[in-house]
Amino acid sequence: MNWLDSVIEAPVDPIFGLNTRFVEDKRPHKVNLGVGSYKTEDLQSYIMPVVLKAEQLVLKKYIDKEYLPIGGDPIYGAKAAELALGKDVDKDRLAIIQTVGGEGALRLGAEFLIRNNICDTIAISDPTWPNHPPTFTSAGLKVVTYPYHDKETHQLLWEPMLESLKKLPKKSAVLLHACCHNPSGCDLSESQWIELANIMLEHELLPFFDCAYQGFGEHESKDNFSMRYFANKFPVVLYAYSFSKNFGLYAERTGAFFLIGKNPETTKKAYSQLLTVARYSYSNPPCHGARIVKEVLTDEIMTKEWHDQIKAMRDRIADMRKVFVQKMKAKGVDWSFFQADKGLFTLTGLSKNQVEELIQEHAIFMPANGRINVAGISHKNCDYIVDAFSSLS
Ligand code: LMR
Repeated sequence: MNWLDSVIEAPVDPIFGLNTRFVEDKRPHKVNLGVGSYKTEDLQSYIMPVVLKAEQLVLKKYIDKEYLPIGGDPIYGAKAAELALGKDVDKDRLAIIQTVGGEGALRLGAEFLIRNNICDTIAISDPTWPNHPPTFTSAGLKVVTYPYHDKETHQLLWEPMLESLKKLPKKSAVLLHACCHNPSGCDLSESQWIELANIMLEHELLPFFDCAYQGFGEHESKDNFSMRYFANKFPVVLYAYSFSKNFGLYAERTGAFFLIGKNPETTKKAYSQLLTVARYSYSNPPCHGARIVKEVLTDEIMTKEWHDQIKAMRDRIADMRKVFVQKMKAKGVDWSFFQADKGLFTLTGLSKNQVEELIQEHAIFMPANGRINVAGISHKNCDYIVDAFSSLS
């Protein structure tokens, strides 16, 4: 008896599978526009200087590797919540769990919703990050989609989005990208967030935010507008938060889950349930990345350095968007949408065949949906990419 006879091979991950293909490619001029991590002008991985500085302090300060509490380090959690939701958030209605990256927070929230019979359906944007659907279905939620972005016109599908959300069964959850929508780079304006909040309240829909790019689109205090606004407006809000990108702590798996509850009593009960989900899935969170974040965010000088350093990253991305549009224009191609998009990503609108042509003919790698990571472009490879893009059949 072969116990594994029933196992069928799973598909390769659309983002990390592509990364493996990039790493294995031998062509020296290869370009990685795939996995969402920040790169320098020299196209190198980047550790923020303030993160390195905090890490040195962490190595001196902590002499133990003892378990953290199930919900994580409370000071780290409080600082993360302050950054994401603002200083004025009602702390009595706030539950915080330190998580294994942003993905861990999404899964924690999904399991919490199912186990406590809060809802059975979640609506996600079309398109979205490819990990969203399997994360929610694996937890047992039914996943439906709402129109969000038109890859031909590069525009937000605002009216169709609202019409679709209005038709959802009451008490469905709605997954919202707080800023720097992945994969489109197309965000709602502040007035659109306000209108959306009213419609979701009227239709009794539960907001579940995913925030992985705070500070990459606009200043941190602006990129969190939607999260702050909804926290004050709704009886219940869920948030999955990641420090992978804005602290560059990718492999340290440093994230948080926040829940805004209706009142302190229900929030306390919800917190106790969140702890059980964490305990039965990974027990308690890793400490290293959280210690670094805590070191930075509890020190005024280092916090300022962090704000300055993320600004430099944000500015580099915005500059590359501008330069790229100019160079495409010089080739007679209108890519003005590219400059308006926010954060690391843009959906190019390229077909699967064109993406494959770019990989095979030009060694320019991107996922099959045509999403590009703008941080993979610099003044060094910009002309090469523009030439390849503008020559596509
Ligand atoms: C991405 O979208 O490329 C990143 O969030 C990395 C990942 O986990 O997919």
